[in-house]
Amino acid sequence: MDKREALKALEEEMEKDLSLPLRESNLVFGEGSPDCEAMFIGEGPGFYEDKMKRPFVGRAGQLLDKLILGVGWKREDVYITNVVKRRPPENRDPLPEEITSYVPYLTRQIEIINPRVIVPLGRFAMNYFLPNAKISRDQGKLFKLGERFIYPLFHPAAALRGTGTLNALTESFIKLPEVLKKLDSIAEVVLVEEKKDSQKGLF
Ligand code: URA
Repeated sequence: MDKREALKALEEEMEKDLSLPLRESNLVFGEGSPDCEAMFIGEGPGFYEDKMKRPFVGRAGQLLDKLILGVGWKREDVYITNVVKRRPPENRDPLPEEITSYVPYLTRQIEIINPRVIVPLGRFAMNYFLPNAKISRDQGKLFKLGERFIYPLFHPAAALRGTGTLNALTESFIKLPEVLKKLDSIAEVVLVEEKKDSQKGLF
């Protein structure tokens, strides 16, 4: 089975999984190139994402698109998804048990795509990979967790709320192509050893 077929099969499995919470919302599985080097992972779908069944298509998504185009990439070249793949009601934060239910699917999605670098967008997605990291201190730093590189960035929605955050996000995003080119030789990689239970099997 190639990567596209494996992702399709995983999406179908998720659709059929009646044990998953938030089933009143649409499944927003993720989209983009399974052959991507960079996989972007947000928190969870919002209103427009739920309507269109596509990740990052609202205002935050428009900013993400702009940043992607700004480094000379196309949206179709990267892969975009979320930790939780259905919209919580009223856009509330996902509950811990909702995250726990969706995480095994994210793990398998990452394994299929096997990207060079994972880019968590915002504190929520970042803390899933790096529980002790702080977004304002650690965004734009490169981490190595097992065999995977993690490059956390501010969430585009947070950047829409403040110029300082927008500038920091833009500055760190611009470095992404260079980071990708030099992944194995960048000196300031932060090695992360600890794992929380929910990460077991992820790396
Ligand atoms: N915010 C997210 O975290 N994900 C989306 O898909 C849209 C907004």
